[in-house]
Amino acid sequence: SRLYLPGFYSYKVDGFSQKHVFITGCDSGFGHLLARQLDGKGLHVVAACLTEKGAADLTAAASSRLKTLLLNVTDSASIGRAVESVSKEVGERGLWGLVNNAGRSVPIGPTEWMKLEDFTKVLDVNLIGVIEVTLQFLPLLKKAQGRVVNVASVLGRLSLTGGGYCLSKWGVEAFSDSLRRDMHPFGIKVSIIEPGFFKTAVTRLDLIEADLRRLWTRLPQDVKDSYGETYFDDSQNFSMGLLCSPDISKVTRCMEHALTARFPRTRYSAGWDAKLFWIPLSYLPSCVSDFFFVLLLFSLQP
Ligand SMILES: *[C@@H]1O[C@H](CO)[C@@H](O)[C@H](O)[C@H]1NC(C)=O
Ligand SMILES: *[C@@H]1O[C@H](CO)[C@@H](O)[C@H](O)[C@H]1NC(C)=O
Repeated sequence: SRLYLPGFYSYKVDGFSQKHVFITGCDSGFGHLLARQLDGKGLHVVAACLTEKGAADLTAAASSRLKTLLLNVTDSASIGRAVESVSKEVGERGLWGLVNNAGRSVPIGPTEWMKLEDFTKVLDVNLIGVIEVTLQFLPLLKKAQGRVVNVASVLGRLSLTGGGYCLSKWGVEAFSDSLRRDMHPFGIKVSIIEPGFFKTAVTRLDLIEADLRRLWTRLPQDVKDSYGETYFDDSQNFSMGLLCSPDISKVTRCMEHALTARFPRTRYSAGWDAKLFWIPLSYLPSCVSDFFFVLLLFSLQP
């Protein structure tokens, strides 16, 4: 239907200059670009960064309309302070958009190499952080009959690797589906973004590899032996970095559509790898996706 009714999907909501959007994880990547993009379109952006440097970089690159604040999504008090300052900013209008974008990928790697805290480190940011930020901002969103945009991943549809990342993204999918159904009567719309592999801090191979080394180094010798001597070195050659698209505007365009279109979609897959490979693969039986992963990793077997 999108092919035949393009106009239908490009209808925009009115009054960008009256609308406020709050975005988490604006230090770099999707969040940073989205903040600048919406700022350029005349929306009022409140951009949450984890670091002072991230906030300063964004301030330097945006108009004076854009506000930044510091936010740690794993710290309830920090979220509370963000709600307070956004509440002052938006007044009686309420908050039009909440974009839950902040996320981390490491520790990521073989399940057997993980300890429990390696899982919770990622889940606390990517899932519990999303839930708490959403809960605390709901009253402001309800006032504006606003939008929630949650960043999941193709790894929220297919669990490709161990650690908390895939779990957290499956969780974001489920949380977003419940939220959409629960908030529908109140006029709040919820969209899920499912990017394929893009070049951002989340896919930075040097960080992922350095953390893999940490996990490998602390393994007991008998576990290392079970993988074989060359396994770790070979895994370093297995460069997902080559498959990452540098054009992250494909993702921020989906986010912008979810926030500004009269009829936002429930799910957006961003990137050709997501559209043509990962999402279709996710609809096939598990034995098929298992087989693809064996092919993909054929040079890397314990
Ligand atoms: C975020 O908050 C948590 C919980 O209060 C804390 O353990 C963590 O160190 C904080 N992270 C940063 C980067 O400040
Ligand atoms: C990985 O790279 C090293 C040297 O860079 C090479 O000796 C080794 O054969 C490579 N392994 C695979 C599986 O390509």
